[in-house]
Amino acid sequence: MKNIHNKNIVVGITGSIAAYKAADLVSKLKKAGAIVKVIMTKSSTSFITERTLESISDNKVLVDENESEQSFLHLELAKWADVMLIAPCTANSFNKITTGLSDDLLSTVCLAFKGTILLAPAMNPDMWNNELVQKNLNNMSESKFKIVGPDYGLHACGDEGYGRMSSPEQILESLSNVVKKNDLDGVKILVSAGPTREPLDPVRFISNYSSGKMGYALAESAKSLGADVELISGPVRLSPPDNIKLTNIETSSEMLQQVLQRVCNYDVFISAAAISDYRPLNSSSKKHKSTDGDLLIRLERGEDILKLAKEKNPSLYAIGFSAETDNISTHARIKLKRKNIDMIIANEANHQKGLGFESDMNEVLIIDKENTLKIPKQTKKAVADIILNKITENYKQNLIKIKNARKSSN
Ligand SMILES: Cc1cc2nc3c(=O)[nH]c(=O)nc-3n(C[C@H](O)[C@H](O)[C@H](O)COP(=O)(O)O)c2cc1C
Repeated sequence: MKNIHNKNIVVGITGSIAAYKAADLVSKLKKAGAIVKVIMTKSSTSFITERTLESISDNKVLVDENESEQSFLHLELAKWADVMLIAPCTANSFNKITTGLSDDLLSTVCLAFKGTILLAPAMNPDMWNNELVQKNLNNMSESKFKIVGPDYGLHACGDEGYGRMSSPEQILESLSNVVKKNDLDGVKILVSAGPTREPLDPVRFISNYSSGKMGYALAESAKSLGADVELISGPVRLSPPDNIKLTNIETSSEMLQQVLQRVCNYDVFISAAAISDYRPLNSSSKKHKSTDGDLLIRLERGEDILKLAKEKNPSLYAIGFSAETDNISTHARIKLKRKNIDMIIANEANHQKGLGFESDMNEVLIIDKENTLKIPKQTKKAVADIILNKITENYKQNLIKIKNARKSSN
């Protein structure tokens, strides 16, 4: 179950006797390396306890009441999940979810979720064969919903027929087919994000408009492809991403130290942080007093962290960012060569167009040694997914080249 490893999976449990099997299922998902959040319908809590699933999933179990504690919980969960699984899925929940109704936390998350939902129906044969259930089965969106089972057999009520929930092994197998392949399984990726702050004195600093959104989106995309990801971040107003190790830094010197200390343990380095090129030569330990005259502050050139990281680790697949206001492609290609890196993501820093720093949107050029790929304006999350797909493709080709070079030199 390699492609389940590191995936964010929401498991919905509904009110069926088969709910007890969900404990085994969640345990198997955890063993396969998935990150599981369980949502239980109100009626399912009388079949299996929240506490059982909480201890097995290693996460707080969510029921309807949690929605009133946290306003946008349904949207957060829908964004967090890579895939959703409802096992067991009662006739009631099946009819609701496949027809787009949303009157509890689980069905609302299903409606807000953009990915695929795997349903494992569990119900009495007469309920499964009911024409309304069958009508919903035949009419449901095939791109949205996948079905596993139900199996034929003897039911707890004594009836025999189709309606038994599939075994946890079968459900896991189906889920594995539904989940996108983990192309970066086993690949270690270090990401830097956000701005740096270069102190002028104890109360002032030089910084830039970087929000960290692009870097955080890249870290999350890499993780969803199965990579082991670590993030080094300057000061941002973003929530720490789930299940990604995060180190906070403030200055470019701290960024340098943290990156160089770690990068030798990584296969890929995505330098998305907007690191200040210059820093005050002498940062004052006392606040600069305001006087009538001008204040002259001398800035010194900081180190090129990405260039240094690549120099010290030649096998590292290194990606930089280049925010430009003019001649974007030309300037970015010059940087790619000067830093001797493998890929550069160039974008226009343009507040009027709502692009680059601070914005939720971006429009970029993905430039590697051979090609330039233009990615039109879209959300940073969508751009991050495209960049990660390109990195995956190039990184794998690179590995093949390295292997072939080794073979021919032996
Ligand atoms: C003992 C018992 C077992 C039940 N088993 C099932 C079942 O396997 N499948 C089903 O569709 N409904 C079953 N039900 C009925 C559901 O629990 C009921 O329709 C409930 O409203 C489902 O709510 P939910 O879909 O929000 O969890 C059962 C009810 C009881 C009392």
